Amino acid sequence: MKTRITELFGIKYPILQSGMQWLASAELAAAVSRAGGLGIISATRFMDNKPGLLEEFEKAKSLAEGKPFGVNISMLPHKDYSDCTVMFFEAAYEARVPVIETSGRSPAEYIQMLREWEKADGRDNEHDRIKIIHKCPSVRHAMSAQRAGADAVTIVGFECAGHPGMDDVSTMALIPVAKDTLSIPVVAGGGICDKRTFTAAMALGADGVVMGTRFVATKECEIHENWKQLILDSKETDTMIVQRSVRNANRVWKGSDTAQWTLATETSWDPEADHGGKQLIDVLLTRISGKIQRVHYIDGDTGACLFPMGLCAGQIHDIKTIPEIFEEICGGCNEVLDKLRDEFAD
Ligand SMILES: Cc1cc2nc3c(=O)[nH]c(=O)nc-3n(C[C@H](O)[C@H](O)[C@H](O)COP(=O)(O)O)c2cc1C
Repeated sequence: MKTRITELFGIKYPILQSGMQWLASAELAAAVSRAGGLGIISATRFMDNKPGLLEEFEKAKSLAEGKPFGVNISMLPHKDYSDCTVMFFEAAYEARVPVIETSGRSPAEYIQMLREWEKADGRDNEHDRIKIIHKCPSVRHAMSAQRAGADAVTIVGFECAGHPGMDDVSTMALIPVAKDTLSIPVVAGGGICDKRTFTAAMALGADGVVMGTRFVATKECEIHENWKQLILDSKETDTMIVQRSVRNANRVWKGSDTAQWTLATETSWDPEADHGGKQLIDVLLTRISGKIQRVHYIDGDTGACLFPMGLCAGQIHDIKTIPEIFEEICGGCNEVLDKLRDEFAD
């Protein structure tokens, strides 16, 4: 396959596995890259641990068999004392990771910082420069990333697991607008999991796709089997949005006690009594922090933490290997097109 995304990243198939806290390890990313896509490691597992992150990059290099991979740097909407963004960029730069995926807030100052380092070291050429892709949920944020010098954007619609933004715009409505508005390549995400959804996203104008939920339901993903089974058992109606109250909308599986507690807590919260929502964030963090997920992704207690899950869970009925998924999507998309051609023929 040849699209602007396969050309930009030097990959066989225009399919990315994006950042997933605790799950997007060197092993998972390398498995995706070996299969012909772009695997992406989550840096957030290595807060204040640059040596650990550098080791993870080395592991990915040795497992990826020479194929490119990336690192996701998820930023909080506002900087705080615990912000590790610069350290993550330094590690990626030192390790010569080919692609950085940013998300969460504007990447502008970090792109400028990276390009200055590259200029000073003579790495500001097509071959050596790190490619930046920014993930966001709206065309206006994507435009701002393009102005800041991003090489590509991922735009995720309302269907996605995790953070769909606050505008509630579906993937189907976002892709054509993004395509018509932006000049850099557009990767689409949210609801893509098989040959039909992949073909549809590409027909709408995407240069590539990103998947999250589908990659959790794989043999390679290191998460307790209970979570994988949960995806297989879930319908398209089994997710909900929490954290709207703190302007950090998050699509999660709605069956967990924690998801129900989060929604109940935020809907009964009295904003008058809170100062700028600070107390609410502190209360929510006691149950929704990533540290809690880390424990339960291993012990398989599906009630005890939030679990990002996309609407496409309703279409996922089996645990596959990553090469099987690529075969189904990239081998199968021509069947979808042929069927349409037959149906459209006079
Ligand atoms: C279990 C899980 C954890 C996720 N964690 C993160 C994360 O830490 N950072 C991030 O930017 N996106 C995260 N995401 C979102 C994915 O990177 C991706 O944008 C999303 O899953 C795409 O939608 P889909 O699930 O419909 O394919 C997560 C998704 C899942 C399923």
